[in-house]
Amino acid sequence: MTERIRGTGWLPVGTRQDVADAGAVRVAGPDGPIAVFDTPDGLFALGDTCPHGQASLCEGWVEDGTVECPAHLAVFSVRTGQVRSGPASAPATAYRVEVRGDTVGVVLDDSGSARPDERPTNRD
Ligand code: FES
Repeated sequence: MTERIRGTGWLPVGTRQDVADAGAVRVAGPDGPIAVFDTPDGLFALGDTCPHGQASLCEGWVEDGTVECPAHLAVFSVRTGQVRSGPASAPATAYRVEVRGDTVGVVLDDSGSARPDERPTNRD
């Protein structure tokens, strides 16, 4: 499911079961692809395109609250997008995930752009 619902401030990604079964789901966001990860610690979303290159983080390895880029193995926090290890030096953009009923979605701002996560970055 990649259709954006205008005016709701929310981009549906799929059902909880869809995301759980896949482990990671890529959705076409208004500002580019977004990867949503189902982890033991919860659901998290990052810009899907690795800041180091063009690889899809959705295709990376998720473990211990991080995702490893499949191209050059940079590691990012799935909570904050912060780089845990290079070669990437710039963080991935983190977005807020919200579950409505049985559907997982990414929160959008009033303009329809995905809204970067506002959680403090010192949590992990
Ligand atoms: S493209 Fe992701 S680490 Fe290089």
